[in-house]
Amino acid sequence: MTEQKATNITWHGGSINQEHREQLLGQKGVTVWFTGLSGSGKSTVAREVEKKLFQLGHLVYVLDGDNIRHGLNKNLGFSPEDREENIRRIGEVAHLFTDAGVITLTAFISPYRKDRDKVRGLMKEGQFVEVFVDCALEECEKRDPKGLFKKARAGEIKEFTGISAPYEEPENPEIKLDTKQQTLEESAGAVIEFLKEKGIIKTNSQDAYSDDEKEIINKRLSDLGYV
Ligand code: ADX
Repeated sequence: MTEQKATNITWHGGSINQEHREQLLGQKGVTVWFTGLSGSGKSTVAREVEKKLFQLGHLVYVLDGDNIRHGLNKNLGFSPEDREENIRRIGEVAHLFTDAGVITLTAFISPYRKDRDKVRGLMKEGQFVEVFVDCALEECEKRDPKGLFKKARAGEIKEFTGISAPYEEPENPEIKLDTKQQTLEESAGAVIEFLKEKGIIKTNSQDAYSDDEKEIINKRLSDLGYV
């Protein structure tokens, strides 16, 4: 990759801005940033929030660590520098999605406070909602859904967060979830309530679909492997 920076470039805006797009969509653009250990439940809660918001008629999109590392960030590993670059790129993408008016949910360990704070700094006030998915290492290790903790303990994976690499907890997250104590329903509900309180979605949002339609949507999502 070239280290050279682009020069002679000018920012170009159009006549349609974020507010116009938000009016069209009937929602506010936002980045809901889930952070926590591997196995803490970030993706699971994000997917549940996604499903519920979609059923309420909202345009919502999940950017997920394991998925993004298959594409956009497939040239990055897990050194502190690579994690920083991982989060920087995701932050930029989330910023664009937010500007597009989309309710953007991100699920990345994002272990370094300074990297998360830099993403916050990209966004306008209130458009970055940090969700600390708090779950003790012991519990994540017990769950070990991908068998990675076991490999990390055996020394087969280096720099594994919580075992041989650090995780810096958020100091002032907008939302803190406890996925050991709370049910999935409660955790997802807490995020949705917050979005209502902040006017990101309407408090009177009703299910946009009938039960029959929901069944069809759920069937499609399940066929695609999302549910
Ligand atoms: S981050 O630290 O850069 O934010 P990210 O969320 O993208 O990480 O990716 C974490 C996922 O990669 C984990 O859920 C796990 O499946 C996998 N993984 C593979 N190696 C490691 C490692 N050394 N540390 C943490 N996660 C790892």
